[in-house]
Amino acid sequence: MTNFITVENEVKTYGQGANAVTANQDINFTIEPGELTIILGASGAGKSTLLNVLGGMDSLTSGTVKVNGVELGDLDQRGLTTYRRKQVGFVFQFYNLVQNLTTVENVELASEIADDAMDAVTALTAVGLEKRANNFPAQLSGGEQQRVAIARAIAKNPDLLLADEPTGALDYHTGKKILQLFQDFSHKSGKNVIIVTHNSLIQSMADHVIEIADGRVKSDSRNETPTPVAQLEW
Ligand SMILES: Nc1ncnc2c1ncn2[C@@H]1O[C@H](COP(=O)(O)OP(=O)(O)OP(=O)(O)O)[C@@H](O)[C@H]1O
Ligand SMILES: [Mg+2]
Repeated sequence: MTNFITVENEVKTYGQGANAVTANQDINFTIEPGELTIILGASGAGKSTLLNVLGGMDSLTSGTVKVNGVELGDLDQRGLTTYRRKQVGFVFQFYNLVQNLTTVENVELASEIADDAMDAVTALTAVGLEKRANNFPAQLSGGEQQRVAIARAIAKNPDLLLADEPTGALDYHTGKKILQLFQDFSHKSGKNVIIVTHNSLIQSMADHVIEIADGRVKSDSRNETPTPVAQLEW
């Protein structure tokens, strides 16, 4: 099978000289089409850095990262923008909502640029926020804002959905619903989903688990029979 993602010797260094921080050092892994992957690791391990590189948000320092046939290292800023627009749905760790747009407008902003988008209200309904469609981000709780960010990413119906700590602000019950949504998105529509988390208790829901420590891959394993989220306890 052709890999959906191939990462070879990926390095990401921030800053230069004495201030340089190498957040990813020599990362290697492959992801098959349709996999739900969990990237696990402690705070500061380099998870968000890796996700930002995979999502074309940040350029890599060296190595190669190939996603769905696209060599990200070969793209200039414009090429990365097109890649993000067409292929990627991204749930940021700190939401990144547009403050002067309403909930539904935030979601439409993403769905309008995608080729195969989902209706914005349908996406908001999927995260349980249809009643908040006309509120502004500042009028929402942290967990509600996080769910808007998730609706925005899902509404693009992207080939690659990247989510950085997507349940960080959610209570157990709401978090479980969101993880169910991600598992369904992958298993029912055959899409690639990568979830970054520090919570090792949810790893059995994934097809593929990559553990990162100190900017390197510490372990890489696959679950033959992932646990349905409904049966997951943490
Ligand atoms: N823009 C940046 N400039 C300089 N250093 C950075 C930058 N972004 C991240 N780093 C550093 O890179 C390392 C990895 O950061 P990263 O955000 O990838 O970790 P993380 O695994 O996502 O952590 P957390 O679980 O706390 O979100 C950290 O030491 C961090 O301080
Ligand atoms: Mg992070």
